[in-house]
Amino acid sequence: MQNITITDTIQYLGVDDKEIDLFESQYVVPDGVSYNSYAIMDEKVAIMDSVDERATESWFANLDKVLGERLPDYLVVSHLEPDHAGNMQKFMERYPNAQLVVNAKALSMLPQFFTLDMSARSIVVKEGDELSLGKHVLTFVMAPMVHWPEVMVTYDKTEKVLFSADAFGKFGALDVEADWACEARRYYFNIVGKYGMQVQALLKKAAALDIRIICPLHGPILKDDLSYYLGKYQVWSSYEPEDKGVLIAYASIHGNTKAAAEKLAKLLEERGAEKVVLSDLSREDMAEVIEDAYRYDRMVLASATYDAGLFPCMDSFLAHLKAKNYQKRTVGIMENGSWAPMAGKCMKESLAQMKEITVLEPTVTIKSTLNEASNAQLEALAEALV
Ligand code: FEO
Repeated sequence: MQNITITDTIQYLGVDDKEIDLFESQYVVPDGVSYNSYAIMDEKVAIMDSVDERATESWFANLDKVLGERLPDYLVVSHLEPDHAGNMQKFMERYPNAQLVVNAKALSMLPQFFTLDMSARSIVVKEGDELSLGKHVLTFVMAPMVHWPEVMVTYDKTEKVLFSADAFGKFGALDVEADWACEARRYYFNIVGKYGMQVQALLKKAAALDIRIICPLHGPILKDDLSYYLGKYQVWSSYEPEDKGVLIAYASIHGNTKAAAEKLAKLLEERGAEKVVLSDLSREDMAEVIEDAYRYDRMVLASATYDAGLFPCMDSFLAHLKAKNYQKRTVGIMENGSWAPMAGKCMKESLAQMKEITVLEPTVTIKSTLNEASNAQLEALAEALV
């Protein structure tokens, strides 16, 4: 177990998972992921969430170590997704006198996941309800769709600690030194990104609390300069760009669309663009490209035409952006087609389904390789972008 000090009476119980290949079966996590769980030791003992079934043994070993001779009184459940609720039933079977602390929505969903009927052992809480553990008083704050419907966060009034569920989480095990924003941003936009409005609602509630420490369900415990993390969440959840820059996302079959994308990058750099990021949609981690699409204020889509439509990785990228509520950006279009270029039309149709997207003129149309006419369009698009 990671030796993490939160406060004298709040202990870390979580587990690092560095064996997992894909988090949620889709996100590469080269530095693993942590499933965080906490114990509040008071006259009553509250355990804040369980962990994924992949980490059952380690979690119970951590519980034994932290609890010693004591027994837990409550398991507070913020979220039923299996990376946190995976050991709820085993916990309730192991500690027959413990009670669940859940909201009504979570209670109604329990039979979907568990065979043990835990309803008679559940304390059902709603917005603003309090639970006293002795010195600690817990207040429950509903956070629906951050990022499942039953989510609630818990505020410990006594020590001013917010147990924030998935909010403020990040990829990466806790024993890996890493910049917080990089993997927190990739986590946020890919997992929570669709629900910006709901995150804004939670931030509003959080603003009314005096928070000293944030304990998320993934990633490090946040203690210093909380305004930095809250500020990032404010920007991300409002869909405003974080930085000035141009993402050029390309889908190239034989390298000609890639060459045109690289030429555009050069033209932008020559014109003093603040930042230019080139991403090969065929090869790069899609989640990383989605993160960059949100991070920067401008994006260029460059795609080959394929089967009279889009090259599949561009199609998939746009489908992801639409699903994640991508909006409020300026976009340039580059299409390639050796006999009937269709990619530009398809990309514009996808963008038309997103909110507040400004499509720049001109569209660059390449027929196989750049020529005088398409080079002139490329120059014009570069001008329009800076
Ligand atoms: Fe980390 Fe939504 O589960």
